[in-house]
Amino acid sequence: MSDQITKLPDDFFFGAAMSGPQTEGMWQGMGKLENMWDLWSNTDIRAFYNRVGSYAGNDMGARYAEDFKMLHELGLSSVRTSFQWSRLLDANGKLNREGADFYHKMLAAAKEAGIELFVNLYHFDMPAYLFRRGGWENREVVEAYATYARTAFEEFGQEVTYWFTFNEPIVEPEQRYEHANWYPFIHDYARARNVQYGISLAHALAVDAFRTLQASGAVRADAKIGLINCFTPPYTRENPTPADLEAVRMTDGIHNRWWLDLVTKGALPTDVIETLAQRGVTLPVRAGDEAILARGVVDWLGFNYYQPVRVQAPAADTDEFGNPCFADPYKWPEAVMNESRGWEIYPRGIYDFAMKMTRDYPQLEWFVSENGIGIEEHNAARDANGCIQDASYRVPFVRDHLRWVARAIDEGAKCRGYHYWGVIDCWSWNNAYKNRYGFIEVNLQDNYNRHLKESAEWLRKVATTHVID
Ligand code: FCB
Repeated sequence: MSDQITKLPDDFFFGAAMSGPQTEGMWQGMGKLENMWDLWSNTDIRAFYNRVGSYAGNDMGARYAEDFKMLHELGLSSVRTSFQWSRLLDANGKLNREGADFYHKMLAAAKEAGIELFVNLYHFDMPAYLFRRGGWENREVVEAYATYARTAFEEFGQEVTYWFTFNEPIVEPEQRYEHANWYPFIHDYARARNVQYGISLAHALAVDAFRTLQASGAVRADAKIGLINCFTPPYTRENPTPADLEAVRMTDGIHNRWWLDLVTKGALPTDVIETLAQRGVTLPVRAGDEAILARGVVDWLGFNYYQPVRVQAPAADTDEFGNPCFADPYKWPEAVMNESRGWEIYPRGIYDFAMKMTRDYPQLEWFVSENGIGIEEHNAARDANGCIQDASYRVPFVRDHLRWVARAIDEGAKCRGYHYWGVIDCWSWNNAYKNRYGFIEVNLQDNYNRHLKESAEWLRKVATTHVID
């Protein structure tokens, strides 16, 4: 069915998603402070694949001008990256002029290359000194983020049109505080939700600052603000029990509806908050918070899509750490996996979630802000000329997702564009350079030089013709 629509609208945009901490490098350059990734790299470099820590990014800090030109030649018109809080502000929370000048130059180079630079303010990269003060659990840090956002809007308000407060605000609560995958490796469900709540307030405070500065003229009149999350369409087994459906409700509630309600209604979903309270998870709500959250309504949304989530009723009410359990993973027998990353490939999920947004949040405009496939480097074949032969897996992945997007648009979804994650290979947290997402290779053995992969020509064709073939 999905292959019936193979053309995207003429004004649909194509671009590349990336982030400051994964690309810039120069981790101590221009007065940059230590961030969470530098802290973890400095604490235990063995935690990173091949011991490649946060330090180098993909050398984009030195190469952004050529990178933007290359992306433009591929037919892309926009790029999303992030400012690093640890580069833009100093340890007193004041503008770091050197860091600001770096971003001014990057914005100018993007413009020169014909690329619209979308700016996100936070991509899992809190300055380490603020983490030591309690991170998102401390209201002063939430306030410090609002100051950072305000400073960025004031400094770049005439240069940037598309702003985002956070990338994937669900990820730090889960990876750092719930599943203990990332430094500081905590297994505490309640703390994870407190962190999630702190981030929600920080988001709303930033939107509020944006609106105030836009009204005063400091931010361009045509500027927009949004939030980006990795939404996961939730599924359960066939013929589900009420308990399976309950597991879906809470998973969807924490991962998806929490953010969708925040950015469209300026409030958190009450059914989710009530269920949390019944299970002893209370949020650190203070008088006045409701009014703060009410400011969190955005102009549009970014939908990062990699995989669905499949759940069933939990076997036990609590886990081995005493945390409440709302769902167990459900292994769908038909799942197709990207074995390199351990993520399910399910292109239809992008359509299902698009239609959910169209139905439940009909006013909301959005774009696909990340989508991509990372394959382990040693599996990537090179031809005689050294060109990476990736078309057999990268082209079908992107094509199938785009076709489902085209169908959703045809059925009324307000999807305006598509950004592929990591068009240029980049550093991926503790996986470092294990999995390669790019249409453009970054060769670590060759001084980070860039080389087009086999699939690059396909991307150029689709991005310039809007025909998904
Ligand atoms: C997403 C992150 C992004 C990148 C991709 C592969 O969850 O937003 O930074 O690491 O995964």
